[in-house]
Amino acid sequence: MNINARLRLKLLAGAAFFALVGCGRGKELPLSSAAVVPLLPPSPPTAADGALKGQYESNFLVGAAIGLAQIQSETEDADILVKQFSSITAENIMKPQSLSPAEGVYNFADADALVNFSEANGIAIRGHTLLWHRQTPDYFFQGTPIEVKDRLQKYITDVVTHFKGKVYAWDVVNEVVTDNGSDITAPYRNSRWYQAAGNSKDYIDWAFEAARAADPDTKLFLNDYNTETSGKRTRLLAVVKDLIDRGIPIDGVGHQHHLQLSSNVDQALKAIDDVDALFSGLINHITELDISVYSDPGECFSSGENCATSYGDNVPESVINDQAQMYRDLFTGFAARPSVKSVSLWGLTDDASWLNGFPVERPNYPLLYDKDRKVKKAFQAVSDLNFVI
Ligand code: G3I
Repeated sequence: MNINARLRLKLLAGAAFFALVGCGRGKELPLSSAAVVPLLPPSPPTAADGALKGQYESNFLVGAAIGLAQIQSETEDADILVKQFSSITAENIMKPQSLSPAEGVYNFADADALVNFSEANGIAIRGHTLLWHRQTPDYFFQGTPIEVKDRLQKYITDVVTHFKGKVYAWDVVNEVVTDNGSDITAPYRNSRWYQAAGNSKDYIDWAFEAARAADPDTKLFLNDYNTETSGKRTRLLAVVKDLIDRGIPIDGVGHQHHLQLSSNVDQALKAIDDVDALFSGLINHITELDISVYSDPGECFSSGENCATSYGDNVPESVINDQAQMYRDLFTGFAARPSVKSVSLWGLTDDASWLNGFPVERPNYPLLYDKDRKVKKAFQAVSDLNFVI
């Protein structure tokens, strides 16, 4: 039962109680006295304008990953973005596959529409992503390492120059750290990029150097997932240290933080603390935050087996409460860490989340807004620290 349903029951019970007491004592307390019961808020509640971004204004930008559909005029999504968010990330339309489907061919129209919407509404844009081993056309990986380098640097130069002054931070490289510490390429992912660069990590340097040359002011990030787990985090920190030791221009670490209810909040925050402790001056961004309502074992992600049973349309209230508490613990922890300058949700509303299809097809409810564009308890938990979960 949601909080409003509970509140309604309480108020109805209260009205009935007063009516009964009144009857029992023979006093003049007509049933119509129930009219003094205050009007109930709409169910579920809406949010005061600016409640979310305002709560963290002095700490960090609050963002959401979206596509073009969300910013078409007159949509509720656009209204929510303008009122509650101070940052936007393109969930897909700034990736190489979208921006340059063929070599030398650029399609900036969709991304420009996103930038125009953001500029018109005073929302900052976070760039995602200049280099990834997914959603990248095959042509990027063809030829000798020198050819690969020249092509990559031209692409990054063209894209970063196009958005110069408009994008406050770029995920320069995405997911370049291996998940498996015993890989022969560890701590690097044995990706198509690694192979195309002649079985070397050099492509990471090429990417950061080109990005810095094209825009000296935008912040340059290495972005990855599972930094809340110690093995992956250790490998990521080794990669970052190597870049810094060699003077490669990097400004910060992006922690994707795709979490689930069984994830450890302390470890998610430790990821930030470890960056702070090792590299003074680096920034931390939380780049793709969501909290799955399921607690899946590792094999669910690797083979699709033993995944948690779908809740369908009926998520237990205890789960909704746990999710809200976890969001609050995270946001409170982020706000206590001055190196955190941006916290972005990977999506705006539950129905649009990638988690409805990953690791298996199953409705998921990982974000702050539900499919009806109403705020969830998780939203209230982070936007109003006095809200009782
Ligand atoms: O654009 C095509 C469309 O033309 C086609 O009709 C449709 C049919 O399936 O597919 C569309 O492309 C999909 C694309 O999202 C845009 O909707 C792709 O199939 C689908 O694979 C792609 O998924 C994206 C995924 O990255 C790709 O790996 C998700 O939306 C996006 O949320 C996800 O984001 C990543 C971050 O970039 C990096 N970190 C992990 C995160 C989650 O996987």
